[in-house]
Amino acid sequence: MKIKLIHSTAVTVAAWVMTLAFASASTLSTPQPQSALSLVKATAGGFSLSISNAGDQAWILQSSSNFSTWTEVESLQVYNGSFQRRYTNGAAGNLFYRAYYDAARQTNARTTANALVLPATSYNYAAPVLPASFSANPILAEDNMPANNLTTDAGATLGRALFYDKRLSTNQTVSCASCHQQAHGFADPRPVSVGFNGRLGSRNAMGLSNARWYQRKSFFWDERAATLEDQTLQPVQDPIEMGMTLAALTNRLASEPFYTNLFAKAFGSTAITTNRISAALAQFVRSIVSTASKYDMGVTNNFANFTASENLGRQIFFGLPGAPRATCAACHGTDNFVPTTGLNNNGLEFPYTDLGVGGVTGATNQNGMFKAPSLRNIELTAPYMHDGRLATLEQVVDFYDSGVVANPNLSPPLLGRNGTPLRLNLTSDQKAALVAFLKTLTDPALATDTKWSDPFNYGD
Ligand code: HEC
Ligand code: HEC
Repeated sequence: MKIKLIHSTAVTVAAWVMTLAFASASTLSTPQPQSALSLVKATAGGFSLSISNAGDQAWILQSSSNFSTWTEVESLQVYNGSFQRRYTNGAAGNLFYRAYYDAARQTNARTTANALVLPATSYNYAAPVLPASFSANPILAEDNMPANNLTTDAGATLGRALFYDKRLSTNQTVSCASCHQQAHGFADPRPVSVGFNGRLGSRNAMGLSNARWYQRKSFFWDERAATLEDQTLQPVQDPIEMGMTLAALTNRLASEPFYTNLFAKAFGSTAITTNRISAALAQFVRSIVSTASKYDMGVTNNFANFTASENLGRQIFFGLPGAPRATCAACHGTDNFVPTTGLNNNGLEFPYTDLGVGGVTGATNQNGMFKAPSLRNIELTAPYMHDGRLATLEQVVDFYDSGVVANPNLSPPLLGRNGTPLRLNLTSDQKAALVAFLKTLTDPALATDTKWSDPFNYGD
């Protein structure tokens, strides 16, 4: 357990910030705090209260002017690991405040109405407005939504709560969103992800924009999950990422009244099963659709909205006449910017430190091959590649320009005429143009739209 008192003088009115945090146990049971006491003195500026509590317990805020008589101010519920509130009315009686954990007072029900901040009418997840090219081949054939798990508004709403819920990790410190952050295109700004115990994984978390469209329909850098429904429960059980068992997960969720309600709305009955958890998570992930980028606007107006540099970058990317012919679109094709049916190696390294698809299938001609996720919102998802080795898009372009490494499985679009890795020899203007084009794939709404944001109630 740690208690922190921070005196903040940076703001015009002095304010005390009280922070209570409980180190979390790595057992399967809900982390339990010890009974605890912390003091804060309210001043003219009021005070801020912030509680970190992986066990999601109830706390009682009390005030006193003499340390002997304590008056209860209110009872506070932690819904998802933390709580924060600013109190502005502390000055009058020169009061002291304490937040107090009382095992006997753990009676607040976490209902859908108080634990989550959900809109009265559900967001539209089931029927996003899509550009014409998404309703025709080749993108239609890339759609991996199965007939037995069509996205519904209620299903994706449940999936949204699950995606942001730290209860999915054994010590209640990590949610899917810890590694798939909305502001970063649902990728992780850390080169490799950090799991519930602070241990490092070996790969960079992939961005999730338009994961719904990928013709091979498989997931992960090494494509080891055949479907998104298969994929969603793997991080939960991964010993580094979330460390849960499925039995512990269903038990824990079943003890939350708000989940009973969300499961009933999504699936017609209150049963909480692992199939339903994976289905709802998959619905939410598939709902993360991004089609409002500058590029999408350009498709409708013959790219009149593009700058000269962006248009030069587009010509290079698609290998259009009049520009150096990079072959990017051979592997990052269609308006969804994903490979079609083939697996690819883009010559990052040899020998391979990560066998990729070959490590799963055992086929040596698939060593070093990796899934390329959609390049949509690629500006937001740095760092790049399966191990996060490239920090910026400029480095990515430099890599494809002159850094592709010869190896037995290098994919043909990256081979030059003489069988050695393709060298693009771009000028610095052309490199900048390619970066500018990649940035036209950013959809400003993706990183901020509340329909994909954290729905939990954290106090203020
Ligand atoms: C500790 C970090 C971490 C957590 C927590 C986490 N992920 Fe991931 N996610 C990753 C990493 C790393 C990868 C790539 C792993 C690989 O390919 O081996 C990944 C890959 C994925 C992919 C594959 C995307 C694609 O295009 O193939 C999906 C989908 C996904 N995660 C969804 C989820 C969901 C849903 C949850 C919560 C149940 C979750 N993740 C929790 C780190 C995390
Ligand atoms: C032969 C197929 C192929 C070609 C051609 C190709 N790529 Fe890639 N690209 C891939 C693969 C495969 C990956 C994932 C590699 C990995 O992480 O090991 C990738 C990854 C990327 C990434 C990082 C994606 C992420 O989420 O981290 C970017 C950006 C990218 N490519 C841009 C380009 C550009 C720009 C070009 C043209 C100059 C290009 N690619 C040409 C196959 C290709």
